[in-house]
Amino acid sequence: MSIFLIKTILSIVLLLITFVAMFTMFEALGRSEKRFNITKLIKIHRFNGRIFFLLYLIIAYFCIDFMVKTKTELSPRITFHAVFALTIIVLLFLKVSFVRIYKQFYGQVKTIGLLIALITFGMVGTSGGYYLIITHFGTEKTSYKVAELKEEISQKGIIVQTDTESIKKGKELYENKCSFCHNPYGTDTIVGPGHKDVLKNQTLPSSKKPATPDNIATQLKSPYKDMPSFSYLSEDDVQNIIAFLNTL
Ligand code: HEC
Repeated sequence: MSIFLIKTILSIVLLLITFVAMFTMFEALGRSEKRFNITKLIKIHRFNGRIFFLLYLIIAYFCIDFMVKTKTELSPRITFHAVFALTIIVLLFLKVSFVRIYKQFYGQVKTIGLLIALITFGMVGTSGGYYLIITHFGTEKTSYKVAELKEEISQKGIIVQTDTESIKKGKELYENKCSFCHNPYGTDTIVGPGHKDVLKNQTLPSSKKPATPDNIATQLKSPYKDMPSFSYLSEDDVQNIIAFLNTL
């Protein structure tokens, strides 16, 4: 199962927990005539809050680990997601401190609770929600812009550079950005397939598209399936990486 799908499932659980938190809060503090036993509601609310925190930490670990290992640039979407996530954790600490320590602020707790719930929707929407939509609920590859980009690339056509300067730059870029998931000198799979002979073979290892420089450029901009996008790379960087792949 892809790491994105796992994270998406975890974040859907996080949403469910958020609903439970809201429901227990409204039932405990919102009704004038209570339907349920308040101490029980509060117990559930607290337990639920702990699970929320735990799940939050697990998902955050996956996200940060992925970011560090792939050195992914922060897109506007990821930036929003991160701001939402950081806000939630600050609010959560404030809320707990108002309940336990700074009790004079207890009046604010309901508002903070609601804010946490709303921002959680924003946080999950900008990650799991987005992923589910572009993959048609996990069933399709994430190359939502393929058609557009193919056109753009086919108009230009990539010419493979063979000078040592390009190859050297390409090798450096490859070591920084790709070698975490790909073995350049073998065909074994680390996270993605090995790249030995990648441009000498007839077809690319995963998608089985023709092994052309253009298709590799497309793979970087709008990857087939689970590879992260490198659409932030400049044309020069892409050319250099392809120059290096051409030597393998
Ligand atoms: C986080 C891991 C990861 C990183 C980093 C990564 N890739 Fe990939 N790559 C994959 C996976 C996974 C696949 C296989 C696609 C699939 O089946 O989901 C893949 C597939 C490929 C393919 C074959 C595509 C096809 O059509 O068969 C090429 C070429 C490729 N990667 C090049 C690169 C280059 C160049 C870089 C560095 C700029 C890079 N990758 C960085 C994970 C990664």
